[in-house]
Amino acid sequence: MTGVETERPSVAEGSGLGEIDRQGGRVDVDDKAMINARADVNQLLPLKYRWAWEKYLAGCNNHWMPTEISMQADIALWKSTDGLTDDERRMIKRNLGFFATSESLVANNIVLAVYRQLTNPECRQYLLRQAFEEAVHTHTFQYICESLGLDEGELFNMYREVPSITAKAAWALEYTRNLENPEFRTGTFESDQAFLRDLVAFYVIFEGMWFYTGFAQILSLGRRHKMVGIAEQYQYILRDESIHLNFGIDAINQIKIENPRLWTDEFQAEIRRMLVEACELEVAYGHDTMPRGVLGINAELCEQYMHFITNRRCGQLGLEPVFPAAENPFPWMSEMIDLKKEKNFFETRVNEYQTGGALDWD
Ligand SMILES: [Fe+2]
Ligand SMILES: [Fe+2]
Repeated sequence: MTGVETERPSVAEGSGLGEIDRQGGRVDVDDKAMINARADVNQLLPLKYRWAWEKYLAGCNNHWMPTEISMQADIALWKSTDGLTDDERRMIKRNLGFFATSESLVANNIVLAVYRQLTNPECRQYLLRQAFEEAVHTHTFQYICESLGLDEGELFNMYREVPSITAKAAWALEYTRNLENPEFRTGTFESDQAFLRDLVAFYVIFEGMWFYTGFAQILSLGRRHKMVGIAEQYQYILRDESIHLNFGIDAINQIKIENPRLWTDEFQAEIRRMLVEACELEVAYGHDTMPRGVLGINAELCEQYMHFITNRRCGQLGLEPVFPAAENPFPWMSEMIDLKKEKNFFETRVNEYQTGGALDWD
């Protein structure tokens, strides 16, 4: 080794960008690991985590594009003077404003923070698929904005200008900012825990809790045959997001299995506190978007729904629930996730995107 070589900028071990090890042995499946792996990250096979590969295949089977969905009925309703109440318009606009930039925040977290640290090729294969899906979701909000003739600046600035939306985005950004630092590397107790916190903040809370109130708001309108085009798009987004969430849960649980020292009592208590904080932010968003409520949905029901969802996420992470047992006030939401039908739920057109096996993730 010469002095010149040691002065080169260091490349993170496990990043896949280091020099090719010409003398190295072939990848042994046992050397594969979620974080801090020794195995070459450029070799997908042999697979170790079949659950990650299966989610990649499920994502591909669910392919859709927002522009395939007709917006005619939505445009007519939005432009009508008596088709929507002021409360419904407020809920729709703030809902769109929340999602329009949230999809981008999630995408940036995957590409700029998670991808570098997750040192496993089948997980990275899934992240590449997920990143594309987040681009499709952002495209959806561009398409809705253009179709309805909404104010672009208003929609894409709500995450800065509407306090209940800013509070959520700012809360999550704290977790990804730490990881986006080019110097950040997993490999210590503190940095491995920081990575787990980011996975919880984005996969479990952002995609797995905050998105769900938003889905319920629009899908409840769809059930009343209002904004059926947007509702259909949300149904596809929900189906994608349910896989994103479950990938995140599986990834976190696998990291726990491989690194049990990280999952201390103290850390578990911290994660439960994060979920409670996130739930409080969501309750505030519910009141802000629905100060008076609309037919079939209101802030109180959304709060109950968020308690139900939060407890469920605790269970999925192997944690005790944080709220007293709560009933699901929107049982129809689970029906929305199951799209294995010849006709979609709102009957706006006949289609069958799902070509793979059953999806019962929620
Ligand atoms: Fe998304
Ligand atoms: Fe997502």
